[in-house]
Amino acid sequence: MTIPNIFFLPLLLLVPHQAFANVTLNSTLSTNDPNPLWLSSSGVFAFGFQQINNNTSLFLLAIWFNKISSKTIVWTASTSNPAPAGSEVKLTAQGLTLTNPQGHLLWSVQVEPSEDVSHAAMLDTGNFVLSSSNSSYLWQSFNNPTDTLLPSQTLDLNGKLYSRFTQNNYTKGRFELYFDEQNLKLSPIGWPTESRYASYLRVDANASQAQLVFNETGDIYVETSGGSKISLGWDNSYFDANRFFYRATLEYYGVFTQYSLPKGSSDENQVWSIVRYVPGNICNDIFDEFGSGGCGFNSYCTWENNRPNCWCPEGYSMVDPNNEFGGCQPNFSLGCGADSQENPQEVYEMKVLPNVNWPLGDFERLMNYTQDECKQSCLYDCNCAAAVFGNQCWKKRLPLSNGRLDQSAGTTITLIKLRIRPLSDTVVKKEDGVQHAVLGSLIGSLVINTLLLATVVLILLLKFKGKEIVKVSSLVETNLHSFTYHELKEATLGFSEEVGRGSFGIVYKGSLKSGSDNNVIAVKRLDRLAQEREKEFKTELSAIGKTCHKHLVRLIGFCDEGVHRLLVYEFMSNGTLAQILFGQPKPIWNLRVRFALGIARGLLYLHEECDTPIIHCDIKHQNILIDQHFMPKISDFGLAKLLLWDQSRTNTMIRGTRGYVAPEWFKNVPVTTKVDVYSFGVMLLEIICCRRSVVNDVDSEEEEKVLLTDWAYDCYMERRLHVLVENDREAMGDKGRLKKWVMIAMWCIQENHEIRPTMKTVMLMLEGHVDVPEPPLPSSFTLTS
Ligand SMILES: *[C@@H]1O[C@H](CO)[C@@H](O)[C@H](O)[C@H]1NC(C)=O
Ligand SMILES: *[C@@H]1O[C@H](CO)[C@@H](O)[C@H](O)[C@H]1NC(C)=O
Ligand SMILES: *[C@@H]1O[C@H](CO)[C@@H](O)[C@H](O)[C@H]1NC(C)=O
Ligand SMILES: *[C@@H]1O[C@H](CO)[C@@H](O)[C@H](O)[C@H]1NC(C)=O
Ligand SMILES: *[C@@H]1O[C@H](CO)[C@@H](O)[C@H](O)[C@H]1NC(C)=O
Ligand SMILES: *[C@@H]1O[C@H](CO)[C@@H](O)[C@H](O)[C@H]1NC(C)=O
Ligand SMILES: *[C@@H]1O[C@H](CO)[C@@H](O)[C@H](O)[C@H]1NC(C)=O
Ligand SMILES: *[C@@H]1O[C@H](CO)[C@@H](O)[C@H](O)[C@H]1NC(C)=O
Ligand SMILES: *[C@@H]1O[C@H](CO)[C@@H](O)[C@H](O)[C@H]1NC(C)=O
Ligand SMILES: *[C@@H]1O[C@H](CO)[C@@H](O)[C@H](O)[C@H]1NC(C)=O
Ligand SMILES: *[C@@H]1O[C@H](CO)[C@@H](O)[C@H](O)[C@H]1NC(C)=O
Repeated sequence: MTIPNIFFLPLLLLVPHQAFANVTLNSTLSTNDPNPLWLSSSGVFAFGFQQINNNTSLFLLAIWFNKISSKTIVWTASTSNPAPAGSEVKLTAQGLTLTNPQGHLLWSVQVEPSEDVSHAAMLDTGNFVLSSSNSSYLWQSFNNPTDTLLPSQTLDLNGKLYSRFTQNNYTKGRFELYFDEQNLKLSPIGWPTESRYASYLRVDANASQAQLVFNETGDIYVETSGGSKISLGWDNSYFDANRFFYRATLEYYGVFTQYSLPKGSSDENQVWSIVRYVPGNICNDIFDEFGSGGCGFNSYCTWENNRPNCWCPEGYSMVDPNNEFGGCQPNFSLGCGADSQENPQEVYEMKVLPNVNWPLGDFERLMNYTQDECKQSCLYDCNCAAAVFGNQCWKKRLPLSNGRLDQSAGTTITLIKLRIRPLSDTVVKKEDGVQHAVLGSLIGSLVINTLLLATVVLILLLKFKGKEIVKVSSLVETNLHSFTYHELKEATLGFSEEVGRGSFGIVYKGSLKSGSDNNVIAVKRLDRLAQEREKEFKTELSAIGKTCHKHLVRLIGFCDEGVHRLLVYEFMSNGTLAQILFGQPKPIWNLRVRFALGIARGLLYLHEECDTPIIHCDIKHQNILIDQHFMPKISDFGLAKLLLWDQSRTNTMIRGTRGYVAPEWFKNVPVTTKVDVYSFGVMLLEIICCRRSVVNDVDSEEEEKVLLTDWAYDCYMERRLHVLVENDREAMGDKGRLKKWVMIAMWCIQENHEIRPTMKTVMLMLEGHVDVPEPPLPSSFTLTS
């Protein structure tokens, strides 16, 4: 996330550090000078010419951090083109001029005719000023920013920052940060015009006077004339301006990011670390009918490594291979007239793009279509480039906009029209029929999926190699806040409001006062921290803190003070899954479907997508919390290892919760992610049936119903699945899914953990991307303890 050291100024390094405090009238800098710059008195900042792209004939008039090896640029003269070799900048009483070797004016600063510049100075704050004889500033770079703010710089109601075009191209780019009325906003620009699309970040100031302040200490906020400080909506942070350089840049990909870098480091490879940024995920936050979204047209956006990344769908390639934000185009002719004589069936296929969504830009919406009808409809429609199928069929034409990877797409499926090329005709056809054939295709498509995934991972790895951010410490890197015991005591009003009691301790509700927000939190007091685990407290926390997924409860911080160990989580306002599932009225089927998919995604993330795979060990309805948008979130993950014992082997101390535990807990075998798959299977049945896994107080004729898993299997074998969802018309109306999901649950609760699918396969089956083979008899295992 740093600007690579592309600016090659060999001579600069040989020049002894000199302070050019005041620049006198008639001083000039030429790109032909060996050392074309004016330094600030401490040498931290320089004003002058920087070569760009290693091209000896292209220069930028800029201000940059001169003491660090990357020479990070913080301001540039807004010329439409870079200055050619031989260009010269000159200070006169009227201002500053930049001319090319032919003497044509490329850029200038002119002070009022009534004023006279007496001298200029590169200040140690990074501000380049033209000063009058009485030392008042007639012009300053701080009032004419480009994409970066520095400590002590402010942006007032008329100011704006604009992003550069690409990492190495400083032309005005695709985003602006500005005040509109009294509100600070971030908006995409309809490049190359100046028109703004709807903002994707808005900070309301509500005052006649407001400014964006980057104070000397390093904090950034909107300050009103009344003196109140308004947060940009990002986390609070600690600052140490004595030890760190700070800057905040509106990046060329639209994220306003604050960075820090240790001062006085002799390490050549020292790079800027991200302190914080807004918005949280630009891929989802940009959402406007007009414009292309976070990425260019026809591409889709993924949020990774604190920035958006753009990808072309299959069959499409980048319009400009050097600009990933420049959009994609189909690699083949598409549209009406392209193949009017031919049968579309023979020319095109409709390919499923897992989790990709283009939420806007439909030209047709067809009700009550099946997936197959939707597919055919798009295939035979020359205007149609892609279709999204949910309960309805949305047809889309080019260009596709606002593309993003949408893990929550759930039951919607995106199909994209591709020309069938002779060499790539290896699509795996799903087969119905006997179990062997189905299993074969299951394995076949799994292999393909794995290969696809491996490729994506490889691309990601290659892409981000060498872009690692140097970390200050492992806990800082996770953005976890370290609270004092006193702070938490205050936040919870002396641990007065108990909201839950788990296997690990009591949970209290509290609220943090940060900025103008009132953040509600849940504070978990760990009372059972095993003695020998204390050392590992922070190690484990950093693993938990690094997780970030919409279906996991977010850890905000912790307290590790004396005997006190507390964890601070975001507060989930709608209680646990248990309360909703077993409450009255029963939650509707569609909501239950969403719950199951969300939980499966969260688990898949824990198992396969975090740095260190996390086995939850205690998946059950009490550990699934529901937020105010009725989104399920897994809680208590990562604690099993911290609070119990050696996780590599099971032992006699039964971990987990009755009705949910996998059989291997009773045997001395290694624990794998498959224990969670087992528990997920049990919970999936609970979600389907709205019934607990173990019910003790049933009538004698209902004895078969004591263990949900046994009962469900019997019902499945006897083909009377409807009794599982009695009186639930919606669920009965979705017979296909009901049967499939019961079968998936049966696969999950296989006694032999090797037969159980991984969460990845479970996910593919739940979403209908692969078929579900006939499940074997789960087990003869019943709980005895
Ligand atoms: C510029 O040149 C330097 C030294 O020759 C090299 O290390 C760097 O990779 C080059 N950068 C670009 C963008 O070509
Ligand atoms: C720069 O110029 C101003 C105004 O003429 C003067 O007050 C100041 O002392 C000068 N600074 C240096 C370092 O010469
Ligand atoms: C700068 O140049 C102009 C024109 O050549 C001259 O009149 C003026 O005296 C010069 N000023 C200084 C401070 O040298
Ligand atoms: C440098 O830039 C100029 C103008 O854009 C171009 O003509 C020239 O080929 C470039 N040189 C190199 C070495 O890239
Ligand atoms: C400096 O002079 C300008 C006019 O040239 C005036 O507006 C300003 O108030 C003066 N500043 C000081 C500090 O005297
Ligand atoms: C920067 O990008 C713009 C828009 O594509 C282009 O016109 C300009 O030539 C580029 N500048 C450089 C230095 O490559
Ligand atoms: C802004 O003003 C409106 C109406 O006066 C009020 O409802 C809102 O809470 C205020 N917002 C802030 C951040 O003060
Ligand atoms: C900058 O802001 C922070 C937090 O708002 C405050 O603690 C600090 O004192 C401020 N620094 C200055 C120099 O105003
Ligand atoms: C698109 O076409 C280009 C050249 O025609 C080719 O190199 C590339 O591999 C193709 N990409 C896809 C995804 O088919
Ligand atoms: C679509 O289905 C709904 C209920 O499933 C029904 O009410 C509606 O009439 C159907 N619409 C059409 C156009 O068939
Ligand atoms: C869920 O949360 C919303 C918003 O906080 C609240 O209005 C609603 O009553 C809650 N529902 C339940 C079942 O707790």
